[in-house]
Amino acid sequence: MEKIIQLNDRRFKVMIPAEKIDEAVAAVAERINRDYAERQTPIFMGVLNGSFMFLSDLIKKIEFNNEISFVKLASYEGTTSTGAVKKLIGINGSIEGRHIIIVEDIVDTGESIQHMVEMLQAYNPASIEVCTLFFKPNSYSKQIPINYRAMEIGNEFIVGYGLDYDQLGRSLKDIYVVCE
Ligand code: IMP
Ligand code: MG
Repeated sequence: MEKIIQLNDRRFKVMIPAEKIDEAVAAVAERINRDYAERQTPIFMGVLNGSFMFLSDLIKKIEFNNEISFVKLASYEGTTSTGAVKKLIGINGSIEGRHIIIVEDIVDTGESIQHMVEMLQAYNPASIEVCTLFFKPNSYSKQIPINYRAMEIGNEFIVGYGLDYDQLGRSLKDIYVVCE
């Protein structure tokens, strides 16, 4: 029998079991190990909340010296603008001249990651690459290259392994998809 879980008003079923996620994480870690072997101590920058589980598994497979830091995109409060304006919180210490690998749970339209990359560029890092657990190619509409994609999916809504539905489901070890 297929396992169905309920999160608020929606039902979800398993789409990607934990073993498959682990294989995809190992494959992307291997590429990063190869590409960054010669670079000076890169910084893995996890975007909270969704990336915490991916980053913790990914980093155990990284073979070069590294630093880990977490940032969060927060909405400005009390602005007169559209309300879509975001600020980046959690940057402490200088990242000027450093190699940054942004770690995301999922890149969908690309709105958040584009914003994130633009704000980080202001700090003059040596390089910025994006590593995402999930990429939705049919939805992505930005120019920022997403060089490390552990898995690609369609436009379906998923939860688990850090990803949430109304803050629920982040602790699940498998990836679940919403039942239509
Ligand atoms: P974007 O700005 O459209 O790329 O959206 C990115 C954000 O939307 C992610 O960081 C997630 O918080 C959320 N998101 C997009 N698709 C999903 C999904 O399938 N499950 C859970 N969250 C999602
Ligand atoms: Mg997110």
